[in-house]
Amino acid sequence: METPTTEPPVKVAALCGSLRPGSYTAQALRIALQGARERGAETSFIDLRDYRLPVHPGDKAIAATDPEGQRLRAAVRATDGLILGTPEYHGSFSGVLKNALDYLAFEELEGKMIGLVGVSGGAMGAFGGLGGLRHIGRALHAWVVPEQAAIPEAWKVFDSEGRLKDPRLAERVAGVGREVARSPGITSAVSRWNSCTPGKRPPGTLAQRRGGHPLVGWPEIEY
Ligand SMILES: Cc1cc2nc3c(=O)[nH]c(=O)nc-3n(C[C@H](O)[C@H](O)[C@H](O)COP(=O)(O)O)c2cc1C
Repeated sequence: METPTTEPPVKVAALCGSLRPGSYTAQALRIALQGARERGAETSFIDLRDYRLPVHPGDKAIAATDPEGQRLRAAVRATDGLILGTPEYHGSFSGVLKNALDYLAFEELEGKMIGLVGVSGGAMGAFGGLGGLRHIGRALHAWVVPEQAAIPEAWKVFDSEGRLKDPRLAERVAGVGREVARSPGITSAVSRWNSCTPGKRPPGTLAQRRGGHPLVGWPEIEY
């Protein structure tokens, strides 16, 4: 008789690109994480204020020796999916988020789901920042979900409890988290790859093994 297997919960983290106390980006990310939990995900919040991350030195070997960079990489590596949150700064994403992302590589993000949430002070939303983050996700071989949430005039749309006053906007933000947690084929494939006994893991990167698709190339892997 076959023993039924229980998939471990998908792990989704939010990475916040604002260091400001009371950040609206952070508030939006907490709503997105709630959406991920509704889909059964285990969630965590990566607050860059808890990291003393130096400006990336431009040399990957030197960056790899930085203990805070290592800590950040380990936190992201432990996830199946990531929700990036950014404030719009001069029509783009924040420098603090870019610096953190520069510490990450394929090992942390390849094949994983990424969701995007942005806030802005002005009425135009965070579309500049979100577009740039989408490019970064592609460069890191991650799967950036099509759903994204931009929150314009963030200073007037949250209540004192950090909830969005407009339920439709709240639903859109939560939907980003739900989508990141949703793709069980891709996320469980990544979990399987990550939990694969190192000696039994096939050579090459996850992308090379996938043959261009995350669900291709798995049957030969031993666990
Ligand atoms: C350096 C800087 C640049 C900004 N540039 C823009 C901008 O281009 N467009 C905009 O709508 N808001 C801009 N803002 C306003 C922020 O998007 C807004 O204050 C946002 O709430 C900040 O996010 P936070 O609350 O998570 O810190 C800028 C703020 C700063 C500090």
